[in-house]
Amino acid sequence: MSEYNQDKLIQDVVKAFSGTPDARLRELMTALVKHVHAFAREVDLRPEEWQAGLKFLTATGQISTDTRPEFVLLSDTLGLSMMVVALQQARASGTPQGALPPTEATVEGPFYWAGAPDLELGADIAEGVPGEPALYMGRVTDLDGKPLAGALLDIWSGDGDGLYDVQLSDEPTMKARGRFRTDNEGRYWFWSIRPTFYPVPFDGPVGEMMRACGRNINRPGHIHMQVSAPGHVKLTTHIFVAGSPYIDEDAVFGKRDSLVVDFEAHPPGRAVDGREMETPYHSASFDFRLVPEPA
Ligand code: BEZ
Ligand code: FE
Repeated sequence: MSEYNQDKLIQDVVKAFSGTPDARLRELMTALVKHVHAFAREVDLRPEEWQAGLKFLTATGQISTDTRPEFVLLSDTLGLSMMVVALQQARASGTPQGALPPTEATVEGPFYWAGAPDLELGADIAEGVPGEPALYMGRVTDLDGKPLAGALLDIWSGDGDGLYDVQLSDEPTMKARGRFRTDNEGRYWFWSIRPTFYPVPFDGPVGEMMRACGRNINRPGHIHMQVSAPGHVKLTTHIFVAGSPYIDEDAVFGKRDSLVVDFEAHPPGRAVDGREMETPYHSASFDFRLVPEPA
């Protein structure tokens, strides 16, 4: 096909979408067509390569379930999830002059499970979970640093072996998950373990792609949270463990320097929240700053 006819093909496909009633869907489909055709031309895509690509996408669909969302993993490992997070946060933020920067958002990942138990401040979400104990504490504020009382932190974490509850059994029970509300001064504190690095699920097509490309499959140690308060944009983020292996090569590109926290080591004794610890433990302090909902 001559270059003229290749151009004509793209124009014809774009035209076929031109009557899409929804303007945003028309914009998305038009750009998608232009970009996938540009990709094929740039790499001079061969039929056997496109067949292999289709086989990969088919396998990605076939392995997918609600608890094994392989397409999410594909989006994560291509950095696309993080790009969508960054675009969303830039759109929502419009930080007012003089305000403090909002806490950076990062990927949700595949292991969020709605309905974690509501716990009292100071509770330990990691009872029966392997790992070194860690006390997490800080405040939730607005962009002026004003405390947000009653803000909700919905927390989930892997264990000290790098595994989430949903990976431990086909019929898992919740572990290392909990919801906390900040006190009148916007403070939160709770216990869990210090999370360790772990690989993203690598026994499927995405793992195969990562291996074929010589990619690192690990994420640095981190704990997940959604933080929300009335009148503010819900924040999905992590706290990362400073010094964790893979801290500078997160397999899903989710690490942000502003989210990396030093975990202070403590000998056995009375922790700042009054808990008597018979073993050594860690503590991590982090404040969350939420963006106001657009008027
Ligand atoms: C996680 O942090 O749990 C995760 C995020 C993206 C892909 C796989 C795992
Ligand atoms: Fe995680």
